Amino acid sequence: MTPSELATLHAAAFSATRAWSADEFADLLKHPGTFVIGDAHSFALIRTVLDEAELLTIATAPTMRRQGLARAALTAGERRAQTEGAVTLFLEVAEDNDPAIALYTASGYRQIGRRPGYYLPKDGAPLAALVLRKSLTVI
Ligand SMILES: CC(C)(COP(=O)(O)OP(=O)(O)OC[C@H]1O[C@@H](n2cnc3c(N)ncnc32)[C@H](O)[C@@H]1OP(=O)(O)O)[C@@H](O)C(=O)NCCC(=O)NCCS
Repeated sequence: MTPSELATLHAAAFSATRAWSADEFADLLKHPGTFVIGDAHSFALIRTVLDEAELLTIATAPTMRRQGLARAALTAGERRAQTEGAVTLFLEVAEDNDPAIALYTASGYRQIGRRPGYYLPKDGAPLAALVLRKSLTVI
């Protein structure tokens, strides 16, 4: 996917928060170990550094949800991170994001922390981020 395609899907999926621009995606993808899994309907963006991976973002187009696309992208991303040497995958999720928390919980992620005021929605009060992790040694 191109940075422009990523930005378009990100903006459609994250309507309540600031969308990431094509330039921001292009900058992220310049870093070695950063990769995208998915297509124009759903993608996961993951960064690996040594033995740790981080899910930077994941998104499915609003009309394509509940078809297993994000789960498939996340699973494929975990496998690729593992092949690149990661043994753990971390992510952050807004504590009111029930669909994403359900996805991560069903995929084996567990909460290890909470960051108050981490997200700044376009409208409304700051939101805490939950920090989740999953061991990639058992997938
Ligand atoms: C979170 C998101 C990526 C899920 O994408 P998706 O393609 O619809 O997810 P999947 O179809 O792969 O769902 C896999 C599992 O996650 C859980 N899940 C996903 N969406 C859910 C919802 N709205 N309610 C409850 N559980 C949900 C379910 O366990 C689901 O399995 P099931 O359908 O067999 O019950 C999507 O809702 C999205 O793009 N949201 C906006 C962006 C966002 O919040 N990204 C995460 C930031 S941390």
